[in-house]
Amino acid sequence: MTAEAANQVPMDIDTTPPLETRGLYVSFGHTSVLRDVDITVPAHTVVGLVGESGSGKSTLGKTVVGINKPREGQVLVHGEDVFSVGKRRRATMRRQVQYIPQDPFSTLSPRRTVGQTLAEALDPRRAKPSDHEQAIARALEQVRLDANVVEKYPYQFSGGQRQRIAIARALILQPRLIIADEITSALDVSVQAEILKLLRSLESTIEASMLFISHNLAVVQTLCEYVAVMHQGVIVEQGKVDDVYRDPQHEYTRRLLASVPGSEGFSLD
Ligand SMILES: Nc1ncnc2c1ncn2[C@@H]1O[C@H](COP(=O)(O)OP(=O)(O)O)[C@@H](O)[C@H]1O
Ligand SMILES: [Mg+2]
Repeated sequence: MTAEAANQVPMDIDTTPPLETRGLYVSFGHTSVLRDVDITVPAHTVVGLVGESGSGKSTLGKTVVGINKPREGQVLVHGEDVFSVGKRRRATMRRQVQYIPQDPFSTLSPRRTVGQTLAEALDPRRAKPSDHEQAIARALEQVRLDANVVEKYPYQFSGGQRQRIAIARALILQPRLIIADEITSALDVSVQAEILKLLRSLESTIEASMLFISHNLAVVQTLCEYVAVMHQGVIVEQGKVDDVYRDPQHEYTRRLLASVPGSEGFSLD
């Protein structure tokens, strides 16, 4: 290292964005679903991703976790390109990014107790809850579920509780990034508010950043600091959520904001 370089302020690794995509293209057959997507989720922030149904939001989330492969472009997780590292490294990186889908039944096995599900997420080879008692207890505490839920099965819970379990399953891995894909969309408004409150309280207690995918603009405003607007597979606008909502620069964002029914807002308090 040169003397000059040594004098520079050391790079704080916590400022490397947990997620950055560069020129991301995803196609299904001949259909281009994502086009030239550049999105950044900075450290310790919640970024909303909005856009109407079919615009490509889930496709983006699933590409970040490797369910879809990009045709072109990069997905950088904490500065490292997920699709160009070796298999081993990729597996480690996968743990750092957790995807929570709208329907928790797709990640919670109906035949496993909550304890088994959490233990398995942590370590598929030693999936005995008793081997991971502390981590399981902490994850459940983080989502405000009683410790005795470990013995129960997914069907024994309400929709909101199941989402809490799905969140606990993501948190137990201490990820750098959580991709929450419409996780409150199927819930009643009051339950939705409880989950949002929980997510907001987590912001100050966990290290992870979040990409919060939602078609509900009001919900995004209550939770997110930044927002990206997707239209037909293209990010048409991104910025501080208050700026974008107050002074949208893109015609599509204006239309989207104008279509919010009643504009009654959504309050957590
Ligand atoms: N696995 C897939 N195979 C083919 N087409 C898909 C697949 N996943 C999504 N699509 C298509 O990509 C487009 C975007 O879908 P999606 O990402 O689910 O949108 P959103 O989450 O914004 O509602 C839709 O036209 C959808 O039909
Ligand atoms: Mg979707």
